[in-house]
Amino acid sequence: MGEPASAGQHDHGHAGPGHADHGHADHGHHADLPDVLDQAYWDERYGSKESMWSGDPNAQLVAEVGGLAPGRALDVGSGEGGDSVWLARRGWQVTGVDISETALGRARAHAEEAGTDLATRITWIRDDITTFDPGASSFDLVSAHFLPLPGDLRDGVLLRLARAVAPGGTLLLVAHDPTDVAMVARMPAVGDFFAGAGQMAAVLPAEGWDVLVTEARPRTVDDPEGGTMTIHDAVLVARRTDAA
Ligand SMILES: C[S@@+](CC[C@H](N)C(=O)[O-])C[C@H]1O[C@@H](n2cnc3c(N)ncnc32)[C@H](O)[C@@H]1O
Repeated sequence: MGEPASAGQHDHGHAGPGHADHGHADHGHHADLPDVLDQAYWDERYGSKESMWSGDPNAQLVAEVGGLAPGRALDVGSGEGGDSVWLARRGWQVTGVDISETALGRARAHAEEAGTDLATRITWIRDDITTFDPGASSFDLVSAHFLPLPGDLRDGVLLRLARAVAPGGTLLLVAHDPTDVAMVARMPAVGDFFAGAGQMAAVLPAEGWDVLVTEARPRTVDDPEGGTMTIHDAVLVARRTDAA
């Protein structure tokens, strides 16, 4: 998961000519952007390769959640299931949500391979996070890594995710940092989708949250030319302190 299955960095994909006419009426004013919120785009993208991510959990998930006691977790944009399976292995009861049926099929298979007991600890839901309502105070951890969210939808979705965190629970949001020139250059069409940790933290109500981490955290990944490069993950970790 955290990295592509083949050498190269995490990549949300570009507006290829083949994606130009999928239409985007449901998501506002993004006709000129790739349809990265669209099921057809992601099913096609996942379908183009046997596996897209490495199957490993994301680095920031391991760093930030490794020390937490397990409870109920929501993995948003769960992809091929690397994060959900890692959480379930550590005793979490996981709900993985993704827009792509193809990704969910792989995630289910990944979980089954990891064991029947583990697989029963994960519920997979195919839904669009821009409209999906996870319910208030439902999860001890809400985790989203590299979920494509255009600027005008971001705050509303993130606020809904924050509300889904139970008192005492943790919100972990990880995105490509907008200062990451290497990634912006690689994905110019979706530059608007990048978000700094401070930007994401600004969505949280002033009361009822302890913001523990807002960082642009460097990470070394393989580059497409067979070398390595440093990219920056925007990392927000916040703990909900009350039922506000
Ligand atoms: C860049 S991938 C990241 C996958 C995984 N979180 C990881 O870090 O490897 C983005 C994921 O978000 C999913 N996705 C994109 N738009 C979505 C939406 N509107 N609702 C739910 N999932 C979405 C895609 O299908 C894809 O699996």
